[in-house]
Amino acid sequence: MRQYNFDQVIDRKGTDCIKVDLLEERFGTKDLTTLWVADMDFRTPDFIVNAIRKRCDHEIFGYTYASPDYYNSIIDWLQYKHNWSVKKEWLSYIPGIVKGIGFVLQCFTNPGDKVIIQPPVYHPFRLVPQQMKREVVNNPLKIVDGKYTMDFEHLESIIDDKCKILILCSPHNPAGIVWDKETLIKLAAICKRNNILVISDEIHAEIVYPQFRHYPFATVSPEAASCSITFMAPSKTFNIAGIVTSYAIVPDDKLRSEFYRFLEAGELADGTIFAYTATKAAYTYGAEWLQQMRSYVIENVRTVDNYLKAYIPKIKAYPPQASFLVWLDCRELNLSQAELVYLFKDKAGLALNDGKMFGSGGEGFMRMNVGCSRLIIEQALEALRKAVTKK
Ligand SMILES: Cc1ncc(COP(=O)(O)O)c(C=O)c1O
Repeated sequence: MRQYNFDQVIDRKGTDCIKVDLLEERFGTKDLTTLWVADMDFRTPDFIVNAIRKRCDHEIFGYTYASPDYYNSIIDWLQYKHNWSVKKEWLSYIPGIVKGIGFVLQCFTNPGDKVIIQPPVYHPFRLVPQQMKREVVNNPLKIVDGKYTMDFEHLESIIDDKCKILILCSPHNPAGIVWDKETLIKLAAICKRNNILVISDEIHAEIVYPQFRHYPFATVSPEAASCSITFMAPSKTFNIAGIVTSYAIVPDDKLRSEFYRFLEAGELADGTIFAYTATKAAYTYGAEWLQQMRSYVIENVRTVDNYLKAYIPKIKAYPPQASFLVWLDCRELNLSQAELVYLFKDKAGLALNDGKMFGSGGEGFMRMNVGCSRLIIEQALEALRKAVTKK
């Protein structure tokens, strides 16, 4: 069995990557450790790079279609990962999940309609509807006994005839929450009863930690299958976000024919050569790499948690159940959000995502990306300790 090396530190400068090359534009300085944008600093695995290289060797890059091999690689992967039997016709390539959210809004809603989101949550869930002149309605997550939960009572109280869509993040970014089956069944029942279409963003579903199980929303009940459009991708899992490899899964005939007709009309579901090539390679050969990467990331999370407990107990890592993003609860530091950002950026030299960008409930938090070499994590924690203890 091949042992992959996740310790390697690779300089990403000069590759036009947002995480490093847009630091100065976004943070006002280039001189920060980059623990923000949700891609990883691990080398893309060789079976993907080699597949792309092999395709490049042909040297003709004409119009390309989604072949049966492409669909079969997704179908087999979903069966293997989530025990989900998906039919080919349910699937469609989409040019990004965020764009997919915009397509669903354009296809199924009108300006002025309401879209429910559950903050703190991935900020495009708020920005895309707002920019499309839909009204965003918050159903904030609750913290009960130190754990995030959905607030169904509040959800039922805000639903009215204008609510057309709920955007679900499963697993939930930030905080890495893997929703249990009962929660998803309950959510589906409420949405179905109220004619609300659920967009289930499951991009983080493949890096679920061993003690937890991801239930694709559409599999939890007949109601869920009939009121949802699911988005998935190998992009987070295999660190290929720049190749744009997302896809939709729509089991319901009526929703599917309406949505896929919309995509076809604008040729929005036509992928690129490299998207198809990378997806096939990732899903055909990726299981072992993914297991090793996940173990490495879990060890990084443990490193953060142990260090904070030992040296910076006022910052607590909310224990993630999936993905490579750690939600740092800094509320005990008793700082304003501006002071908190100053502490991380200016005093510690670290670029993290400001919790406030994820909306209501994000104040007092920062999101740390641990998809990188452990050495970088250890150095960042040391810098943070010095910044917190420095008078
Ligand atoms: C929950 C969630 N959805 C979607 C995306 C982005 O997906 P895409 O690049 O396919 O638009 C991200 C990236 O961080 C994410 O965290």
